[in-house]
Amino acid sequence: MIAPIIRTKSELRAMVKTWQKAGEVVGVVPTMGALHDGHLSLVAAAKAGCDRVIVTIFVNPKQFNNPSDLENYPRTEEDDARKLERFSVDAVYVPGPEEIYPEGFASTVSVAGLTDVLCGAHRPGHFDGVATVVTKLFTQTRAERAYFGEKDFQQLQVVRRLSADLDLDVDVVGCPTIREEDGLAMSSRNLLISDRARVKAPALNEAMEEMADGLRAGGTATELAEKARARILAAGFNEVEYLDLRANDDLRLLERPEGDCRLLAAAWLAGVRLIDNIAV
Ligand code: PAF
Repeated sequence: MIAPIIRTKSELRAMVKTWQKAGEVVGVVPTMGALHDGHLSLVAAAKAGCDRVIVTIFVNPKQFNNPSDLENYPRTEEDDARKLERFSVDAVYVPGPEEIYPEGFASTVSVAGLTDVLCGAHRPGHFDGVATVVTKLFTQTRAERAYFGEKDFQQLQVVRRLSADLDLDVDVVGCPTIREEDGLAMSSRNLLISDRARVKAPALNEAMEEMADGLRAGGTATELAEKARARILAAGFNEVEYLDLRANDDLRLLERPEGDCRLLAAAWLAGVRLIDNIAV
């Protein structure tokens, strides 16, 4: 079934109002489009957990700290709508910029602490942009549940924090990372990797898995990260921005595994920034 494409918040509100009046649970899957199987797994989870599902597609300018990254970000609306057909979602919300940031828009949602590290330290303003747009999408859709991938683990924790802090009453559901057969985490940015570079891409996840094994065997993060960085660079990556062992809840840096924790990494491959994380 082709889902209705909704482009204004007033249309969306009217639709959601009738659903909620009938006591139906509304779920939202926020995306920036260029949908892949990772996104579709979030849609499937939302369909299983909610009566009504809205997928949002909005390439949010406020979360890009680099203008050429925003310009090059893949935009594939028709293809996305086709991919959603088999899920029979109830609405695809594709707002224009004026629906999200009308003239005079002057507010920013900023989550302290969690955003000082990892991607936050390397992409100034990125998480303010994410937190602001997610708050807008939550309030515009009035969803009770929202589905995010663990692939963007820091983003997931930031969204959980803001939802709790601002009493948005949205149950934020984290879903497992979906990978290509060779281990590369699915991401819209993978479309930007050249064929020549693509064969090198699995080295990031391989080095992380090896480091996780080393940590489980009693090694320290500092010593193992040095080896893993060398392996990633030797495979053809240009730079490893970070490769850290951190606690799930507050993202504090760890030297040895402790409670729920994970390895998180960001690395550049031929002009494309890839991120990944795995539980230890
Ligand atoms: O993960 C994404 O695609 C984006 O950061 C999100 C959550 C849709 C906000 O623009």
